[in-house]
Amino acid sequence: MSIPNKHYGELKDSYLFFNIAQKVKKYQAEHPDKKMYRLGIGDVSLPLCDAVIKALHQGVDDQANKDSFHGYMPECGAPFLREKIAEYYNKRGVDITAEEAFVSSGASDELGDIIDMFDRNTSVLIMEPAYPAYVDANVMAGKKIYHLPTGRDEGFLPTPKSAEKEGIKADVIYICSPNNPTGAVYTKEGLKDWVDYANANGSVILFDAAYEAFIEDPSLPKSIFEIEGARTCAIEICSLSKTAGFTGTRLGYTVIPKTLERDGMNFNAMWVRNRTTKTNGVSYIIQRGGAAVFTDEGQKQIHENINIYKNNAKVIMQALDEVGIWYCGGKNAPYVWMKCPNGMGSWEFFDYLLENIQVIGTPGEGFGKCGEGYFRFSSFGSPEDTKEAAERIKNLLKK
Ligand code: MLT
Repeated sequence: MSIPNKHYGELKDSYLFFNIAQKVKKYQAEHPDKKMYRLGIGDVSLPLCDAVIKALHQGVDDQANKDSFHGYMPECGAPFLREKIAEYYNKRGVDITAEEAFVSSGASDELGDIIDMFDRNTSVLIMEPAYPAYVDANVMAGKKIYHLPTGRDEGFLPTPKSAEKEGIKADVIYICSPNNPTGAVYTKEGLKDWVDYANANGSVILFDAAYEAFIEDPSLPKSIFEIEGARTCAIEICSLSKTAGFTGTRLGYTVIPKTLERDGMNFNAMWVRNRTTKTNGVSYIIQRGGAAVFTDEGQKQIHENINIYKNNAKVIMQALDEVGIWYCGGKNAPYVWMKCPNGMGSWEFFDYLLENIQVIGTPGEGFGKCGEGYFRFSSFGSPEDTKEAAERIKNLLKK
């Protein structure tokens, strides 16, 4: 008899964003005449920029020609893209080589796959509120999970001391900065504390940098490798989804320094072994499009789009300011994290917005228990919809 993975039985019935989509679908079926304003899942609304589109077309043409045709791609990524990624870091003074940059089909895929490199008995520390896939992927893998709740008093940025206070000592530590869902961003000093802690304890940090391109304050670190000591304790997972509109195109990258070792095992070499076994790489055409993101033209164009999203965040923040609601994020991050009004629960507030003004957000409780009483708005909607949603929120909450 085949034995199913019993850990699936420990998961919530369905994934957060799937749950929300089902609720919205039901409401829409019952109210077909109502327009919905989607500030829920962080899915981009602007098309890919011109530089990327041109490179994708070129990639298609290459595949039409015997001399430029590509079959299987190198499993760890095309050298032309790995070099561009390394250059992206080097230009910022971060010393990364092309062989340390692995091309992936996106950060969420990678966040699930990467735990393959850790022993079954590994424990993981997840600071909450957190992107729900961290918990779910580790539940599926049967890992021991330590939930570290955080709150407004520490700016949603827990320190190693907070972990010690809870008696937590974990092998793997998830850090997401800029944070999804709170928008909080670690300073260099804040990250340095975690790097020192990980090196001292032999832990490995999984640093989720999916939102690094949204940082506008030059004093804030975009990469954990800007921090001294990170090359011996961290893996960085990045994405072109939000940075360059690749949510439907799928492309990301992961940086694993050659200097990251535990128990005589080298993580860069292990990941090469993993990738060469478990994937046949990302499509040539998509990697061509991805390489264009790192050109000067590509960088200029993606930042034009990012600025549009940042302006959306401002519109949401202004509306909350006008009705006197506490929030954080939105400045160096694409998410605005607010306190639900009048002591409402986060799912209660979700229903209240959906039913009264057809605005969709994400209930804080979906990111962990300590997210209860909070709510997240994404700035990735269209500017027109975001303006209308902000107006509706203002009018509803003024009452
Ligand atoms: C989010 O809304 O938290 C993200 O868009 C989900 C994701 O990246 O998978």
